[in-house]
Amino acid sequence: MKKYVYGNPLETGAVVREISESKTDISVFQLSETDEGLEFSCRMNENDVVYGLGEQVRGMNKRGFTYISYAADDPIHTENKHSLYGGHNFLILHRADPSVEASFGVFVDDPGKVVFDIGETKRDLLLIRTGKDCVVYVMEGGSLINLAKQFRELIGQSYIAPKWAFGYQQSRWGYKNADDVRSVVWNHRSRGIPLDAVYLDIDYMERYKDFTVDEERFPDFTGFVEEMKEQGIHLVPIIDAGVKIEKGYPVYEEGVRENYFCKEENGEDFVGAVWPGKVHFPDVLNEKARAWFGEKYRWLIAQGIDGFWNDMNEPAIFYSEKNLKKVLEEISSIQDDNLDLNDFFHMQEIVEGLCNHPQDYKSFYHDMNGQKVCHDRVHNLYGFYMTRAASEAFERIAPDERLLLFSRSSYIGMHRYGGIWTGDNESWWSHLLLSIQQMPSLNLCGILYTGSDLGGFGSDATEDLLLRWMAFAIFTPLMRNHSAAGTRMQEAYRFEAAESFRRLIRIRYGLLTYLYSEYMKAALSDTLYFRPLSFDYPEDAHAYLVEDQLMVGESLMIAPVYTQNAKGRYVYLPEEMLMVRMRSDKERTYQTLAGGHHYLDVALDEVVFFVKKNHMLPLAILEDDAKTTQDVSTDHLVWIGIADEKAEYVLYEDDGISKNYAPRSEWKTVCRKREELEN
Ligand code: GLC
Repeated sequence: MKKYVYGNPLETGAVVREISESKTDISVFQLSETDEGLEFSCRMNENDVVYGLGEQVRGMNKRGFTYISYAADDPIHTENKHSLYGGHNFLILHRADPSVEASFGVFVDDPGKVVFDIGETKRDLLLIRTGKDCVVYVMEGGSLINLAKQFRELIGQSYIAPKWAFGYQQSRWGYKNADDVRSVVWNHRSRGIPLDAVYLDIDYMERYKDFTVDEERFPDFTGFVEEMKEQGIHLVPIIDAGVKIEKGYPVYEEGVRENYFCKEENGEDFVGAVWPGKVHFPDVLNEKARAWFGEKYRWLIAQGIDGFWNDMNEPAIFYSEKNLKKVLEEISSIQDDNLDLNDFFHMQEIVEGLCNHPQDYKSFYHDMNGQKVCHDRVHNLYGFYMTRAASEAFERIAPDERLLLFSRSSYIGMHRYGGIWTGDNESWWSHLLLSIQQMPSLNLCGILYTGSDLGGFGSDATEDLLLRWMAFAIFTPLMRNHSAAGTRMQEAYRFEAAESFRRLIRIRYGLLTYLYSEYMKAALSDTLYFRPLSFDYPEDAHAYLVEDQLMVGESLMIAPVYTQNAKGRYVYLPEEMLMVRMRSDKERTYQTLAGGHHYLDVALDEVVFFVKKNHMLPLAILEDDAKTTQDVSTDHLVWIGIADEKAEYVLYEDDGISKNYAPRSEWKTVCRKREELEN
């Protein structure tokens, strides 16, 4: 691995391995300087493939578009968008003909705006534009798996969630009081739908103030948390980045007094607005402010809370005080005008442009170890450092326990502190496909604990979409049904097919032993949980073209159905595999399929997956009344597989809550002869 340093880069915390700086010129790129910064370019051959970039739109092969790392609070994830919530500057350029040129991986450690033009301007040109100050790491040699592993070892071990966070979780913006939550739990329990967690969105707070609980909506919060625990339910409250400006609110007053908020050029606290109206943003890039903000989580943990989701931390700014004033003045100056096309569109533009205005990100500052740094330069670090604040505090508050933590915005490095969810998607079929494609890209960037809002956040979910989404989300570490206020209610029990949802969710619990084991192995050995097919079948040219199937852990391949009204789909098998068809944790059928293309019927209430040759997986047999992950026992496992003579599986097990991860020597290798496998 080579490390190249340009200008005076800031320490971002992305990397954990010490690498000495290379003094030679970067070899895989041509480098030029522009007025704004640096430009790295290289040619791509016709069949080369580009993987990576984490949370972005479009396919797994990123060729053919420009992606910009500049964390955006943008809920419309259509394919013309250049930025979503994260900044994940790692990609692999896979060379189709390694005898001519070697494949390589590149990580650009620059927390400001970075542009990846991957064949948009010129089809065979890869262009990366960075700022003047950055560190570039280049990994060379070896397979896709090897390049990915080199990178993961550079950035350190991925976050490990508690085992309960691999259960089914229900969320909605709009559960407004304790009774709403009780009703959600009761409706799952009374229908026998397993459930491990319910989320508390912004409505639990007192007027959207962080680290408060509205006492009218949630009287005796501690008692309520306890009551839920007794039913096996973990409550997961949201924490937003902005701190409400309000006299008498301790978090605000302490922050102002101690200079813990981001400041304007002139030293005044920067004023933006989010849910509670005007807010200040904690300067989480400052060590002291970060420790202070992290400590605030203690109050909720003391009340029994053991999981959090950090939101609006791009940071989202509905408007800044200054810009709003300017825009209102301009609008009032034209109120008697006859607005023509240009005037009208200009007015529309300035009003819509209030939100997340680029100028606002240039107008406030962080204090990084005494150095005043403009936010724009480190924009992509904000969500990372907010999450780091929480995680570092958890180390002090509950050092031996795993707490659930994930964030909306992130940068590489944050994967050590928490996971992410993929933000405000829509109940669209195209977003089910997008979610499938984002998973391996995120894993490549170290983010293993992840998933999308199951069923879609915005718009109304239909029953068939939710069934298909569920059948995919069975395999994502974070399996959370979440939706926006005002959309159709989409809890599993709201639909006629409630019984089918129950069966699908029970399949997740049946597969939990495998899914958790694979997650832990991926985290502890810096490997990928989700992979494009080409990672496992590098010699198979067709595997590089498959954009809608994934390898999951060491034994499985999935091929989710993601189109409306489909009765099945075409599936590509790189080799002979065992097809497993499940309608519930108890009903399963098997069929050995030859390598090649197949059309397969998949009913709406089925899960179909494929087991690799000479591999197997454990399926736990559940009791009829299984309610939570606690009810999944490894005492009754069925081994499913396909073998020439025997198949082998390495099973990882631990208590799921402490940080005493089992060392490799304790991972169990299980071998089964062909006749002992269920198939
Ligand atoms: C943001 C989040 C979403 C949440 C909403 C209200 O849009 O992405 O998940 O429900 O805010 O807090």
